[in-house]
Amino acid sequence: MATELTETSPTVLGTWPTPLEAAPRLAQAIGLGAADLWVKRDDLTGLGGGGNKVRKLEWLCGAALGRGADTLVTCGAAQSNHARLTAAAGARLGLDVVLVLAGSATDPGGGNVALDGLMGASVVWAGDVAHEALDPLALAVVDQLRQEGARPELIPYGGSSVLGARGYVACGLELLHQAPDLGTVVTALGSGGTMAGLVHALGCRRVLGVDCGAIEHPARTVGTLVAGLAGAPSRPDELRIRLDHVGAGYAVLTEPVMDALTLAARTEGLILDPIYTGRALAGLMSAVEDEEIKSGERTILLHSGGLPGLFGHAGAVARATGALAEFPRR
Ligand SMILES: Cc1ncc(COP(=O)(O)O)c(C=O)c1O
Repeated sequence: MATELTETSPTVLGTWPTPLEAAPRLAQAIGLGAADLWVKRDDLTGLGGGGNKVRKLEWLCGAALGRGADTLVTCGAAQSNHARLTAAAGARLGLDVVLVLAGSATDPGGGNVALDGLMGASVVWAGDVAHEALDPLALAVVDQLRQEGARPELIPYGGSSVLGARGYVACGLELLHQAPDLGTVVTALGSGGTMAGLVHALGCRRVLGVDCGAIEHPARTVGTLVAGLAGAPSRPDELRIRLDHVGAGYAVLTEPVMDALTLAARTEGLILDPIYTGRALAGLMSAVEDEEIKSGERTILLHSGGLPGLFGHAGAVARATGALAEFPRR
């Protein structure tokens, strides 16, 4: 039975629906049946190199335009995909963009930072700070812009407000059209809005979040967003969240993630990133190993984007380059 799509954003920035593709060689390599594993290609959302934040930004930018904003302000890590896509949304909509980023201008750039510059964003370098310290700095930028006569709109960290999470309610409904028999959707959990939207659309049982270590209390944060979407209390203890792939922290590459990146690339030509989607696949592989996910069920890996972040991660680039085989092999 087809479910009616009811969640339509006011501002279209992406290309919808994104494809749902079979991944039979990767499925068999991780111990599933060939028909069990599918990839939701939200890396192909179109705008600015693509990725999950496009769905959230449609809602957040729609609200900003409704309030007459002329400038978008947001914050994140230096290699934030969300910041890059906010820069892209601003370019598409003719709005100025100011990014408050952790790090400094002298850090190695590349990846998302290069794209931020290409798309015309301005940056405030916040130094070596945790993400909680970025919010007040972004608010200070908003105040300063107002004093200068601009009409700034603050886009939340990771785009993860209740409004932004509605983009992933739409993705959940899209998935129900494409795969009514879906068992589990596996997603990276960063700031939490992606998982929260999927949970609202599909229920706790069908969504597995793999925490990336971006926030301190992932279950509480996702639970609060789910409650906001439903307008009713939620049960964070019922959320399925794996915490076993954070490793030494958000920006630090782990061996299971490097293995997952390599496997996806070599079985399907599928490029994941070292912070988010690589962790999602590593978590999925652990879930198959400990039988949280089983053969015979339709499992969907949400490919939420992040390719520029791969090129901005020196460790991952060095490992990938070092793996290049010379011919003839010795
Ligand atoms: C590529 C990618 N995947 C997944 C996520 C996680 O999404 P969320 O912040 O909604 O939890 C992010 C967040 O920045 C991301 O950039």
